[in-house]
Formats: sequence, structure tokens, C-alpha cells
Amino acid sequence: MSIVSAATTRPLIIAVAGRKGGGGKTTTAINLAGVLAARGMRVLLIDLDPQASLTRLLLGVDDTEGAEEESAREGIGARLMTPRKGLAGLMHAAWPGVDLCPGDRSIETTAWALVDDPTGPLRLRKLLAGVTAYDAILIDTPPSLGFALNVALLAASVAVLPTMLVQQDLDALDDTIDVLERLAELGAAGHIVIVPNAVRGDGNDRQALTSLAAAYADLLASPIPLSVAIKYALNAHQPVIAREPLGKAADAYRALAVRVCPPSTAPMAAGETGVGEAVTRG
Ligand SMILES: Nc1ncnc2c1ncn2[C@@H]1O[C@H](COP(=O)(O)OP(=O)(O)O)[C@@H](O)[C@H]1O
Ligand SMILES: [Mg+2]
Repeated sequence: MSIVSAATTRPLIIAVAGRKGGGGKTTTAINLAGVLAARGMRVLLIDLDPQASLTRLLLGVDDTEGAEEESAREGIGARLMTPRKGLAGLMHAAWPGVDLCPGDRSIETTAWALVDDPTGPLRLRKLLAGVTAYDAILIDTPPSLGFALNVALLAASVAVLPTMLVQQDLDALDDTIDVLERLAELGAAGHIVIVPNAVRGDGNDRQALTSLAAAYADLLASPIPLSVAIKYALNAHQPVIAREPLGKAADAYRALAVRVCPPSTAPMAAGETGVGEAVTRG
């Protein structure tokens, strides 16, 4: 059941994306949700990963009982087959100000079922078009190219791309940016924010940051540090801002939230131009 009351404006829709696993998508989604909720925004987290790691983290399902509980819980996958139904009945309260729309394996079944359907890529945009009870919707996506990533990027106006500073992750980032460019004419997220994640600040990190800045210029946000506080908070099913609000990690997520969703900027619909500062590709 939703814990939020009705709002009148369209929510800002943010896809957290990247085809490499372990880059920090789920961590970034939870922590951005925490900062936006702390601002008093009503936030919906959507788990679009069929592995449902965000759902397991927030609803506290452990791996032994996971399969049974997951099959009993209706997720967003099947709802993409019937977008007119909206999200009614799917939401769970995650923490005050934040609801979760769980993920489930039916996302994969839906992807197959819609493979020849020309409306397939726009299903999530349509499903979210009637959702007005939130100020921000954050979509966590799977670590792969394909249906779930495409529908998320086409539903969102902002794409947040967390990346670790190692070569495999940086190559994967190029692939994700390529998908965004190919989807641009269909109205994919136009405001792109690349987030260097788990940064230690050693020589390798500094070199990688310089290369990223050269390649992507204004798309690059300030780094999120490698932080045990982030891990401890996740183990407690919380964003770091709730556990260590005065720490460096919380500060870094607050700065990222300003970049992704400037406090003075009204939410926009998918397909509109970027929020706040103009973005250009380097
Ligand atoms: N900034 C960070 N500091 C410390 N650990 C992090 C940080 N970002 C992510 N992690 C850890 O890295 C692992 C992978 O992150 P996750 O968000 O699940 O990646 P993804 O969703 O992209 O697969 C998790 O164990 C998470 O706790
Ligand atoms: Mg994840």
C-alpha cells in the first residue's frame, strides 16, 4: 500500500542505468531516494531488475526464503503487459517518504512476449504516465542491455550512470551512452549524469577521472567515495543519509541529488529537455 498522499504535478523520472553489474546502480538508487525524501519529496523506487536485488534489500528478504516470497509478491513485470492498469496495488512502503514497486522475474517474460510489439519500448513510459502521487520516481535497472534498460531510458528524463573507475566498467559506460544516443530520437532521457562510484582517490582513480572528464565533459558529476558507511547502511536496509547524515558519503549523495534534481527545478515529463544546467557531450 502506498504511504504517500496525492500530488498534482508529474514526477521527475530518473533511470539509474549501466550494463555492468556491480557498478553501483542499486546503491545509487537507494541513496538518491534517501536524499530526495529528506528534502520532503515523495519518492517511488521501481525495481526493474528481474534479479530484484533492490527489492530484497529494502523488503529485507533473505536468500533462503527469497524465492517463495518473491513468487507471492506481484511485481512490475506483468504490469507492463497491461499498462492501463497503472501501478495500483504494487507499492510497498520502504521507509518514510519512499515507496517501492518491487521487481520480479516476469520482467523477462514480458520482454519476450513484447519482442515483436512496436509499443514494447514505450510500455513503461505509458505505465508511469498516470502516476502523479510522487515527486520523483527512481528506476533501478538490470546490468544488461535490452528491454528493461530501453523502457527505463525511454520513460525517464534523467539517466544516472554510476561507474567504477576500472576499464571494464568504463567500456560498459560507453555502451550505455551509445544506447542513449540511439534512443534519443524516441525521447530517451536527455539529462545524463555520469557518477564515478566507489572512488578511493588513488593514482588509477585520478587518471580515470581525467579520461572521463576529457570524454564526457559536462556529463560528469562529483565522485561518490568508496565508503564502509554506505555498505553498513545497506546492510541495515537504509540510505547512508539516514545512518550517517554528517559523513562524507551523505555529503556526496546530497551533491549528486542537487545535480540530478536541483531543488528549485520543477519535475518534468519524459522527452523534455534537461533539468537545470545544460548538458553537452564532450
Ligand atoms: N560507494 C560505494 N562504497 C562502498 N561500497 C559500494 C559503493 N557503491 C556500491 N558498493 C557496493 O558494491 C556492490 C555492488 O553495488 P550495486 O549497487 O549492487 O551495483 P549494481 O546495482 O550496479 O549491480 C554492493 O555490495 C554495494 O554495497
Ligand atoms: Mg543492482
